[in-house]
Amino acid sequence: MLAHKGTQALTTFRLELRAYLDSDCDMMYANWASDPEVTKYLTWNTHTDIQATRAVVAEWTQTYASPTVYHWGITLKSELIGDIAVVRWSEDHEWCELGYCLCRRYWGKGIMTEALSAVIRYLFDEIGFHRVQLRHDNLNMASGRVMQKAGLRYEGAMKEACRRKDGTWADIILYGLINE
Ligand SMILES: CC(C)(COP(=O)(O)OP(=O)(O)OC[C@H]1O[C@@H](n2cnc3c(N)ncnc32)[C@H](O)[C@@H]1OP(=O)(O)O)[C@@H](O)C(=O)NCCC(=O)NCCS
Repeated sequence: MLAHKGTQALTTFRLELRAYLDSDCDMMYANWASDPEVTKYLTWNTHTDIQATRAVVAEWTQTYASPTVYHWGITLKSELIGDIAVVRWSEDHEWCELGYCLCRRYWGKGIMTEALSAVIRYLFDEIGFHRVQLRHDNLNMASGRVMQKAGLRYEGAMKEACRRKDGTWADIILYGLINE
C-alpha cells in the first residue's frame, strides 16, 4: 500500500526541490513558461502573458493540501529553474508517471538527471511506488537521455500516438523502472 506524504522538500548535491509558492510566478514565467523552445514537446502552450502563469501557480498551490500531490519547483541557489511532477498515478497498481521541464539556460548540465533521480528515490523509498514511468516524443532525444541516465529502461514506442503542435505525428517512447 502506498504511504502518501505529498510534496516534501528534497535536497540533492546542487538542487533544492520544493513546493511552489505564490511568489514563484515571475521566475517561472521568465525562466521557462514563456519559452517556446521549452514547451515545444509539452502538452501545454507557451504562456504569452504572466497572467497565465499566475493562474496555474495559484491552482497548484491550492492542491498541496492533498497528500497525493507530488509537484516540485526545482531551485538552484534560490532561483526557480524548473519543474518536476507526478502527472498521473495508479493507487491500485502502485505506479506513477512523471513529467519535467527546465529553463533553457541550464540545459545540458545534468540538472534534470539529478532532480529525476532524487524524485524517483523519494517515490520508491518513502511513498512505496512499485513502478515509475516516463514518456517522450521520439524527437525529444534529450529527454530520453535523461531517462536513461536516471536508470530507466526503454519499454517501447507507441506509433503516432500524439499530434505535435505543428500538426505532425509523434511516436511516444515509454521508459520504466521497477522498484526492486
Ligand atoms: C529534457 C530536459 C528536461 C533535459 O534537462 P537537462 O538538465 O538538460 O538534462 P541533462 O543535462 O541531465 O541530460 C541531457 C542529456 O541529453 C543529451 N542531449 C541534449 N540534446 C540532445 C539531442 N538533441 N540529441 C541527443 N541527446 C541530446 C545531453 O548531451 C545529455 O546527455 P549526456 O549527459 O549523455 O551528454 C530539458 O532539455 C528540457 O526542459 N526540455 C524542454 C522540456 C521537455 O522536453 N521536457 C520533457 C518532456 S518528455
